[in-house]
Amino acid sequence: MRVVVLHNAEAAPAHGEARDALAVVAVQACARAVSEALRRGGHEALPLPAPEEPAALLAALRAARPDTIFNLVESYRGEAALEPAVNGLLELSGIPYTGSRSLACALALRKPIAKALLAAAGVPVAAGRALSFADASRDGGARLLAELAERVAFPWIVKPAAEDASHGIDAGSVVDDVAAACARAKLVAQRFAQGVLVERFIAGRELNVALLGPHDAPQVLPLRAIDFSHFPKGRPALVTYASKWVEGSPDWNGTNVVDADLPPAAAERVAETARRAWTALHLSGYGRVDLRLDDDGTPVVLEANPNPDLSPDAGFALAWARTGSTYDQLILRIVDLAYAGPAA
Ligand SMILES: Nc1ncnc2c1ncn2[C@@H]1O[C@H](COP(=O)(O)OP(=O)(O)O)[C@@H](O)[C@H]1O
Ligand SMILES: [Mg+2]
Repeated sequence: MRVVVLHNAEAAPAHGEARDALAVVAVQACARAVSEALRRGGHEALPLPAPEEPAALLAALRAARPDTIFNLVESYRGEAALEPAVNGLLELSGIPYTGSRSLACALALRKPIAKALLAAAGVPVAAGRALSFADASRDGGARLLAELAERVAFPWIVKPAAEDASHGIDAGSVVDDVAAACARAKLVAQRFAQGVLVERFIAGRELNVALLGPHDAPQVLPLRAIDFSHFPKGRPALVTYASKWVEGSPDWNGTNVVDADLPPAAAERVAETARRAWTALHLSGYGRVDLRLDDDGTPVVLEANPNPDLSPDAGFALAWARTGSTYDQLILRIVDLAYAGPAA
């Protein structure tokens, strides 16, 4: 098959810090790894940096005449929020493409919307509340957070409402009182030009659940957990931006992904929760659900990630490797799962 490996290639993201550009560089390396795996599997791989004009993007796809598009696009014109728009164009193209549809990408990208859908489907989520950009950027949502403090105990975590890849997550994200929460909410809103999500900080184990398959029958891959035992002392354990992107930093060294090694009943509970999150948020192809275990062992979903990083050394591929299959087999399986059109 002819497979176009479509990826973003902007010089820098439109918002956030300069080092957020590291995430963009990683997408390009991933596109190379996927292309090589496809070629070893007997496919013709055509890497394509997504042209920044939609008409040019569609023209480039038409000219390449692919049987399938391997979609690695995570942002468009430096905007993560435009990822679903690219998926929408792929849906209109009629060409089968890998991973989730525009619907799932749009839902997952708006954490408050995703949380509301998860809660409606009976999937446990962290208690909290969303602040609009207007509220957060004005006074950090002072009145709303004072109300929240009456029903949700500290510590809390303050996150951008529409980012991923731990953009905006660092040591200052976890707060112990309303004043600190407001200050952080205002900072995050202004830095990322978007709303803010404030929720209970769940101190228990963090688990990553990789899922693979069609929307209606996902397979749960071996469960993985974050080992924070080498995380800098005196700081709340969380996967910060530096954990994911600043190689060799204390945060990077202190967040190792390991086998979860849960007892079978607990593992099945986590897997079932992840499957329900996948279904509720319309994921397809491949995805990863991030959870934490609450004090009583309840798996609480932090977020779902359609189209997670497929780099050979990233979490999804490492979870897949625990099945005993190769990276090349993973890439070929994801191509097999590609389909044309919108979400079911
Ligand atoms: N409610 C929470 N309780 C504890 N830790 C959290 C919570 N929400 C987020 N985190 C921490 O922040 C990290 C990034 O948050 P997440 O919601 O997964 O956003 P991203 O899309 O950036 O990965 C998580 O991996 C986790 O370590
Ligand atoms: Mg996450």
